[in-house]
Amino acid sequence: MEYSIKDIKLFREGEKKVIWALNHMPVIEKLRKLYSKNKIFKGYKIGACLHITSETANLVMNFKQAGAEVSLCASNPLSTQDEVAAYLVKNGISVFGKRGESSKEYYRNIEEVGKRLPHFVIDDGGDLITFLHQKENYRKKIIGATEETTTGVIRLKNLHKQKLLKFPVVAVNNAKTKYLFDNRYGTGQSTIDGLLRATNILIAGKIVVVCGYGWCGKGIAMRFKSMGARVIIVEVDHLKALEAVMDGFWVMPISEASKLGDIFITATGNTSVITINEIKMMKNGVILGNSGHFNVEIKMDEIEKYTRNKKRIRNGLYEYILKNGKKIYILGEGRLLNLACAEGHPPEVMDMSFANQFLSIKYLKENPSLEINVYDVPEEIDKQVAKYKLETMNIKIDTLTEQQKKYLSSWNLGTL
Ligand SMILES: NC(=O)c1ccc[n+]([C@@H]2O[C@H](COP(=O)([O-])OP(=O)(O)OC[C@H]3O[C@@H](n4cnc5c(N)ncnc54)[C@H](O)[C@@H]3O)[C@@H](O)[C@H]2O)c1
Repeated sequence: MEYSIKDIKLFREGEKKVIWALNHMPVIEKLRKLYSKNKIFKGYKIGACLHITSETANLVMNFKQAGAEVSLCASNPLSTQDEVAAYLVKNGISVFGKRGESSKEYYRNIEEVGKRLPHFVIDDGGDLITFLHQKENYRKKIIGATEETTTGVIRLKNLHKQKLLKFPVVAVNNAKTKYLFDNRYGTGQSTIDGLLRATNILIAGKIVVVCGYGWCGKGIAMRFKSMGARVIIVEVDHLKALEAVMDGFWVMPISEASKLGDIFITATGNTSVITINEIKMMKNGVILGNSGHFNVEIKMDEIEKYTRNKKRIRNGLYEYILKNGKKIYILGEGRLLNLACAEGHPPEVMDMSFANQFLSIKYLKENPSLEINVYDVPEEIDKQVAKYKLETMNIKIDTLTEQQKKYLSSWNLGTL
């Protein structure tokens, strides 16, 4: 079995982390028990491009134990947990990824996964699927793919709009049991975690500017507010901006917020949200980080050009002395800071996201002739994941009575 990781000897450390995460991923554990006995993926190859974390390890081990041959590369050069990669290799997964790999290595590792001619592809951000669209030879056996995040889904829908998509994709991000929890509570908590691990500063009393009030931005803003920060939201969508106002946040353009903030977090999925023009207006000593998928939200190239001196302060934190004499601090090189400076989302939310991944790949296997399109996760899967999650949390809910069902499907019963 081929692989390319930092150090296989790290596997014992990885094993402890993966088991710890599994203890908090009861739905993944349940699916493992349900589908490993009759090896439903025997004879199938799965190629995945995901953050190589302990939670991902539990997803790929589900596929492996259900009979699949799995290869895995990283979906970000800074998110790989090398000890987890070592654990996976020890357990028969072909892993290609090292924390801190160069852009060239990152794409070489994506190619390694492509070369294995997968039947199913699991992507996070769309880099693997995009690569496979440029290499006809590597996509010969593909039945379908899944996409984990908002940015990846946008890219794939654009690809399909241009009639260039070559196989069906299930947009796992669009499951309610994914974005309402992973994007909101996962990104909310892990962004704070990344900031604190890299800086150890006090949040109470700080002015925090959150760019983007989508599902990630909402979670980030909510958590900063609850820790005593004064939060400003920057948006381009009237509805989202209105929601932010009524949720109790200050809302203003980035040009105004730039002068006020102590901490800036981008989570828009867009490019050039904070450019050198905004940076020049900022106070001395501000901290900037990005929790959106790609490292394009803060213009790092412009910052580098406008920098007189740069030094590493702590893990995940760099000081830039700008040409105007001010200092700014950048988290995780402008890459998604919750993975670059911390460990990404907690296992409890990845439990639901990855249950959707597992069941969506099973759905693609059971429906091998889907037309080429970007599909939402079937509602039954979404509901099943919510049901399993509540069951494993030992939470019971009510059911509709026959009379209530009849009432809800009627039109003639009004005011009594
Ligand atoms: N860090 C993580 O672990 C993690 C987890 C999930 C998603 N993501 C990524 O985070 C990003 C946001 O995801 P989401 O699910 O919140 O998306 P979303 O579509 O729900 O929200 C994005 C918001 O940003 C706003 N926006 C766009 N351009 C803007 C600009 N120039 N200035 C201000 N606001 C702008 C949009 O109007 C929208 O409200 C995506 O790149 C997604 O892939 C990261």
